[in-house]
Amino acid sequence: MPDPQRKPHIGGNWKMNLHAGEAAALAEALADRLAGTAGDAVDVTIFPAFPYLAAVASVLCNKGSKIVVGAQDGYFEANGAFTGEVSMSMLKDVGVGCVLVGHSERRHVLGENNELINAKLHAALDAGLDVILAVGEKIEQREAGKTDFVNYGQICAGLAGVTAEQMQRVTIAYEPVWAIGTGKTASPQDAQDAHAAIRGCLSGIFHGQGVNDTTRIQYGGSMKPGNAAELLAQPDIDGGLIGGASLKADDFAGIVDAAK
Ligand code: PGA
Repeated sequence: MPDPQRKPHIGGNWKMNLHAGEAAALAEALADRLAGTAGDAVDVTIFPAFPYLAAVASVLCNKGSKIVVGAQDGYFEANGAFTGEVSMSMLKDVGVGCVLVGHSERRHVLGENNELINAKLHAALDAGLDVILAVGEKIEQREAGKTDFVNYGQICAGLAGVTAEQMQRVTIAYEPVWAIGTGKTASPQDAQDAHAAIRGCLSGIFHGQGVNDTTRIQYGGSMKPGNAAELLAQPDIDGGLIGGASLKADDFAGIVDAAK
């Protein structure tokens, strides 16, 4: 069983999906379906595409929902000549409470490195936002026995300069790259082993400050209602970051229910 001092968190990463009407309808359905659960037994964040953040925030607000609106990305500079980018304080302005940094698609499709990810993480914390830092190995790294080595590297670099106090606003998402959007899920034991190793890494970085016990570490990679309960029952798995299955209200709500 997961440690009761860590409240489970389920995130729904909508990625570059759902136009305005669909995004609003999904937010409304989730607000109804998760009333009494989101923000109470389970913290829930949904991550729409940039153009719909404000509209989704307003749907949730009108419904009195405790679902948090998250952004899939944000830039580290406060303002200025950065065409196409969006600052953390702009995200905060439109009702965002949490930012995702280091997602595998940002790292491996958009070419972000650890230094940029660390700068974004600091900018989000400085703007008063919560952060989810995603890490995870590629298949060839797992097959070469380097899973923990890769995760340690991404965590140490991603969290450079972060204090134990700031870690109260950081969640780690362990997302093996080979499991994202592929239908392949890490076995509960493999996921648990990676999570326990990440907790050990946090213990090494924040020695004696209890961060390893209090930080939520959530699993991502083809989590769905059918496999969520077994993954979420592992002692070091405190939630999930859901892509594909977050696009359907029943599937996503089913995963949230499994985290209760
Ligand atoms: P998936 O995506 O659930 O579709 O595998 C997970 C993620 O990208 O966070």
